[in-house]
Amino acid sequence: MKILVTGKGGREHALLTALAEAPSRPELFAYPGSDAIFEIAKPAPAVDLPSLMEFMRAEGIHLCVAGEESMLVQDAGLANLCMEAGIPCWGPPKESAQLEASKEFAKEFLVRHGIPTAKYAAAGSLEEARAAITPLPVVLKFDGLAAGKGVAVCGTREEADAFLDTVFTQRLFGPGRMVIEECLTGPELSIFCSVVDERFHLLTPARDYKRIRDNDDGPNTGGMGAVAGRGLVPESLLEEITSTIIKPTVAGLRKDGLPYRGFLYFGLMLTPQGPKVIEYNCRFGDPECEAVMPLLQGDLAQYLMEAAQGWLRPEMLETKAGWSVCLILASGGYPESSRSGDLITGLPEAGGARVYHCGTRRNAQGQFETHGGRVLAVVAQAETREEARDAAYAQAAHITFDGCQRRSDIATLHFS
Ligand code: AMP
Ligand code: GLY
Repeated sequence: MKILVTGKGGREHALLTALAEAPSRPELFAYPGSDAIFEIAKPAPAVDLPSLMEFMRAEGIHLCVAGEESMLVQDAGLANLCMEAGIPCWGPPKESAQLEASKEFAKEFLVRHGIPTAKYAAAGSLEEARAAITPLPVVLKFDGLAAGKGVAVCGTREEADAFLDTVFTQRLFGPGRMVIEECLTGPELSIFCSVVDERFHLLTPARDYKRIRDNDDGPNTGGMGAVAGRGLVPESLLEEITSTIIKPTVAGLRKDGLPYRGFLYFGLMLTPQGPKVIEYNCRFGDPECEAVMPLLQGDLAQYLMEAAQGWLRPEMLETKAGWSVCLILASGGYPESSRSGDLITGLPEAGGARVYHCGTRRNAQGQFETHGGRVLAVVAQAETREEARDAAYAQAAHITFDGCQRRSDIATLHFS
């Protein structure tokens, strides 16, 4: 079985590692991939989506797995093109991937299907947006691709005006509309499902740590760590999330005629009024994937191959009991900027953990160096959260590079 995974980060390294360990021993390919990924997967010699499709056809790829989201909405859409080519794809077609790509589309979907979410208004101009901001604090979201900078939680009118200016006057993110949302409070939770048509399979819940500094301080990042484990969410809360959020979402996709086969990620906030949806993503979370994958037991390759063809077989993937903790090592200057070319030392000494590469490359001497904002994900599992956390930190302590940033409070919980 030949499987190609799209993407190049720690999430894809973790997915490909789990596929490489599958008993069905698939032959793996990656695009665009990375030097570390190419140790377990062959590079697909492509430069864009059309040439990738050409390669997959010529190579006889049996399954395409969308690691990241951008190709799902690029050109005609990765999954749409795969369908035309007769290649099963794990990841939804372009029309369904709007759930992630357009915040207004997602909000309309949520409201239409009665799924709990923050109250909102949508605006196409500065005046409309100003008029829609009534209570403060307010959350302003640019409705389009904004490299992670498109959301502002504004406590004051001045902060809101400054963000509106960036969006509508300076047009920093290009043309686009805006969603104005009620500000919710509570801990965040990431829920992952495999969705196949009208059925779903709930995977291990996780929490990510988005801010750069300890105690959730400083600017948002792509994620500085994650903790995953069944024990993260009480069974009764998981049942509530399933009945009020997951089931109506999967039913809503069917009602709206939106085909879906792929991972669906629910970004939730556990508010005093119950769990509410902050966002949908049409892929696994990063860095949650790095924490969740090592907890899976079974044949991920066979499971995804069958699921992409319409047969969801939850019994093929067992979730190990216990906890998994992922600590991210980020480069100097991140998230405002990122440094590349700093030599990474200590990787061989950290053999007691799984180390996934998020942003590294090999230098001329063949050593790994930094190549991006988030550099490495160091992941360990244990029976208890504390043991998993200690193991991840102990292994990560071997690794360093100039400018390395890491939080010291990953997997401490402010809720349980
Ligand atoms: P999003 O891109 O929609 O996931 O938003 C990015 C981050 O902004 C989320 O992870 C939350 O921390 C925060 N956020 C988004 N929407 C809200 C909201 N309605 N209330 C409070 N915080 C929010
Ligand atoms: N963990 C956040 C994300 O993957 O979007």
